[in-house]
Amino acid sequence: MKGLLSLLLVLFIGTIFTRGVDGKAPFTKNLWSLQDKSTAVVTGGTKGIGHAIVTELAKNFGCKVLTCSRNKEELDRCVEEWKEQGLDVRGVVADVATSTGRTVLIEEVKGMINEDDSAEKGLLNILVNNVGTNIRKKTVEYSEDELDFILTTNFKSCYEITKLCHPFMKRQKVEGSNHCDKTSSIVNIGSVAGVTCMKSGTPYAATKAAMNQVTGNWACEWGGDGIRVNCVTPWYINTPLAQQVLKDEAYKRYGVRKFKIISFTSLK
Ligand SMILES: NC(=O)c1ccc[n+]([C@@H]2O[C@H](COP(=O)([O-])OP(=O)(O)OC[C@H]3O[C@@H](n4cnc5c(N)ncnc54)[C@H](OP(=O)(O)O)[C@@H]3O)[C@@H](O)[C@H]2O)c1
Repeated sequence: MKGLLSLLLVLFIGTIFTRGVDGKAPFTKNLWSLQDKSTAVVTGGTKGIGHAIVTELAKNFGCKVLTCSRNKEELDRCVEEWKEQGLDVRGVVADVATSTGRTVLIEEVKGMINEDDSAEKGLLNILVNNVGTNIRKKTVEYSEDELDFILTTNFKSCYEITKLCHPFMKRQKVEGSNHCDKTSSIVNIGSVAGVTCMKSGTPYAATKAAMNQVTGNWACEWGGDGIRVNCVTPWYINTPLAQQVLKDEAYKRYGVRKFKIISFTSLK
């Protein structure tokens, strides 16, 4: 089972590619499974990649999912749509860039994992740190507030939420041994921008590189707690966030020239 969930989430992205390219049904369903009613938190689930992950976990893997966003109207609409599909998804309005928002989210996490039908009552099985944002400009043009906004939204939120969720994800060691027989999984949504240089804005790139680094450190630190930690680093996927770039034909041409393999993947 080691590494299974991270592979699974990588495969989710693969599934998204497959759907985008030929419209076929996801191939993950018969290959992978999770315990029914496994509990999952996915931050920023009303749009884009987060929305796809929430749907995939709830629909094809029978998870109970909690998500959040800052826009109540949009969140309510998404939760209603998931309910209509018979999926166990709930949402809370929370700005995870703020300490107050993170506290609100964690209270909801406690409520969800302590419900009687949760796969392992009191335990959070999966955390996906998906929230992320960007402002694209030249380094010298960022105001201090803009820099703070990107660092706080992308990196501090991930760090603090993970810290707050750790007690609910940590597992007991098998008696008389130094290992846990089951694992929980944290998946950070990084970016190609965190592993190479691609004119996506230096603060954004720095936060994504930082996510890679904490991912490795947490994996080492928490392996003994039965928590796996992985980072997925997507290339461009056609979401509201990427629209800033995808509508810029000059940038697309630069991408084709520089990276050769450019493709802009649709979520549907
Ligand atoms: N799309 C790409 O090409 C691409 C490529 C590489 C990596 N990524 C990464 O993938 C992740 C998702 O990107 P995306 O393209 O799906 O973004 P998106 O379309 O902008 O969706 C972001 C989601 O997060 C929510 N959100 C944003 N800030 C929040 C906050 N402070 N508190 C709570 N919720 C918040 C948004 O809802 P509200 O705005 O209503 O709060 C929305 O539901 C990000 O970390 C991004 O860096 C994306």
